[in-house]
Amino acid sequence: MSQALPVTTLTLRKMKRDGQKISMLTSYDATFARLVDSAEVDIILVGDSLGMVMQGRANTLKVSVGDMAYHGACVSRAVTRAHVVIDMPFMSYHVSTEEAVANAGRLIQEGGAHAVKLEGGAERALVIAAITGAQIPVMGHIGLTPQSYHVQGGFKVQGRGDEAAERLLADALAIQEAGAYSMVLEGIPKELATRITEALDIPTIGIGAGNGCDGQVLVIQDLLGMDDRFKPRFVKRYAELGATIREAVGSFIAEVRSGAFPDDDHSFHARRPRGPVRVATAADATAEARGGYGPSELDECPASADVAGSDSDSDEPASA
Ligand code: KIV
Repeated sequence: MSQALPVTTLTLRKMKRDGQKISMLTSYDATFARLVDSAEVDIILVGDSLGMVMQGRANTLKVSVGDMAYHGACVSRAVTRAHVVIDMPFMSYHVSTEEAVANAGRLIQEGGAHAVKLEGGAERALVIAAITGAQIPVMGHIGLTPQSYHVQGGFKVQGRGDEAAERLLADALAIQEAGAYSMVLEGIPKELATRITEALDIPTIGIGAGNGCDGQVLVIQDLLGMDDRFKPRFVKRYAELGATIREAVGSFIAEVRSGAFPDDDHSFHARRPRGPVRVATAADATAEARGGYGPSELDECPASADVAGSDSDSDEPASA
């Protein structure tokens, strides 16, 4: 388990001042969150991209506050070091500032977030100020904003051309002025992202925005190469887990069909008469910590259960 200090909004500001790059990755469940956190990523984003990655939808528009609170809680339970940000989904901050503050509060209280993220530029300044005023840190998100799917005509690069670039720079300054402590720059030209980053005191986290930002974010499933249908230019695949998973699952299916799985090593056995007393081992302690779902040698030598002080029904599988 990591001994490093928790990452806070202050840590992130200092990282920008010190020229230290910030890493951010999405997670939507405890298993991935634990892995990503133990690798010492700085920020874990419970993104509303879960609408596509977890729920199999074409865009993020149907994700609810309840969905975000649920996945946020799964993630935040598993995290000890990273700064956890939860996305505010479409229509959760658009109707009124009161509703926006209440929804942001729910993501903090139910989801366990340290901060929330919302999309949009100057038009979101009031809502950002209201949420920040409720002592909830807000990460902004401008450029390609997936919740503007219909307005932007799909997932399209933004800020190309002088006028569009000036508008985005003005948006970035307005969000900072409203109180945002950081912001995502998505799907904009590298030169513009660098210019915005240099103009701001708060850190920028880029995705499809070049290397001039203060940090970078990717969706974890994209980085791990888990979806062959999705290979955009801005994603670098650091592994090909899709192929690895298919191969492992194929091996399981083949062994089930042939009867090779489960073999004796992966089966529980009927108790034998008491054998000689055996000194408890580290494996016994591990087995006990996992609720008795331990190595098969415990089943082979029931007396060891008494020595280790574990439950005499130590071969009962624990729930995950
Ligand atoms: O929802 C998400 O995952 C995001 C990131 C890609 C920035 O907003």
